[in-house]
Amino acid sequence: MDVAVYSTKPYDRRFLDTANAAIGGRHCLVYLEARLSPATAVLAGGAGAACLFVNDQADETVLGEFARAGTGLLVLRSAGFNNVDLAAAQRLGVSVARVPAYSPDAVAEHTLAMVLSLNRGIHRAYARVREGNFALEGLLGFDMKGRTVGVVGTGRIGAAVARILLGFGCRVLAHDPAPDPDCAAAGVAYVPFGELLAASDIVTLHCPLTPRTRHLIDAEAIGRMARGAMLINTGRGALVDTQAVIAGLKSGAIGRLGLDVYEEEGDLFFQDLSGQVIQDDVFARLLTFPNVLVTGHQAFFTAEALAAIAQTTIGNITAFEDTGRALHEVSVEKLA
Ligand code: NAI
Repeated sequence: MDVAVYSTKPYDRRFLDTANAAIGGRHCLVYLEARLSPATAVLAGGAGAACLFVNDQADETVLGEFARAGTGLLVLRSAGFNNVDLAAAQRLGVSVARVPAYSPDAVAEHTLAMVLSLNRGIHRAYARVREGNFALEGLLGFDMKGRTVGVVGTGRIGAAVARILLGFGCRVLAHDPAPDPDCAAAGVAYVPFGELLAASDIVTLHCPLTPRTRHLIDAEAIGRMARGAMLINTGRGALVDTQAVIAGLKSGAIGRLGLDVYEEEGDLFFQDLSGQVIQDDVFARLLTFPNVLVTGHQAFFTAEALAAIAQTTIGNITAFEDTGRALHEVSVEKLA
């Protein structure tokens, strides 16, 4: 099948080519650097499938263009699918498929890397030591053992985070409308969301972005958190109201903040903008805090994860071509 691959980076190409070669190079992958938007939908040129990453936007206009040109499948190289208008896709007869699980451990381990870096000031120590500054003032951390961590969403990633935290000797609280019996058996205590916020030294977000979870952490939620707690978001940017978080950092309500995702990351992440002036003042403000650590949506970025993403993506395309159904379809019900 002809596949227009949007937002391609050299590493995407390497892993997708390997997965395609493993089935004899069956699919014709056309690599596009452009991000998918109403202006770039036409670049798919009627290919049977379009392959998307997290900041490609498949809104109604884009899907209409695809349907008109005969592109009947969207294959997401991601687990999240908040960037696709599923209702419009269903209406227009465009199938949507994703990679439900590639390496939950990759994201979970990055989450812990952020927690530990922020706790012990590794990001600051790195810069200080290179400048010959070996002072410890401002680097005071806390023992993880015995601390309470609130995990919001214990699906594949949240459960992996909880397992690692239990290994550190943390008390792990969780909130999830569908609690995981294995997590509960391992010692995770499921509590209402408000209780989790109030009792946790660290709150970490691992639920999907849906209309219900948009701005889950807003000014009200921050007001319910323990003063000075650490907040980590490796889920999706809009789970957090960034302006409210900035206010929380200024007042000291939030003691440390780790973000791998950002509400308006589409114009920033996955690009080298080091020679340009950042136009997003909210993002620029975030970068001024000593107790904030931002990574550019890299939690998934391990060799194991990229190989698994490529294999599942090629598998989705092959199954769709053979049977009319992708292996991991996303349906509109998922939005509920
Ligand atoms: P999953 O579908 O296995 O688990 C999500 C869990 O969240 C489910 O158990 C669900 O019941 C729960 N949930 C739904 N609404 C909730 C709410 N209001 N409060 C608490 N829990 C709620 O998904 P998985 O694989 O664990 O991924 C989670 C999210 O992480 C994805 O939706 C994606 O947005 C994000 N992600 C980020 C990556 C990165 O590189 N930063 C990479 C991969 C995923």
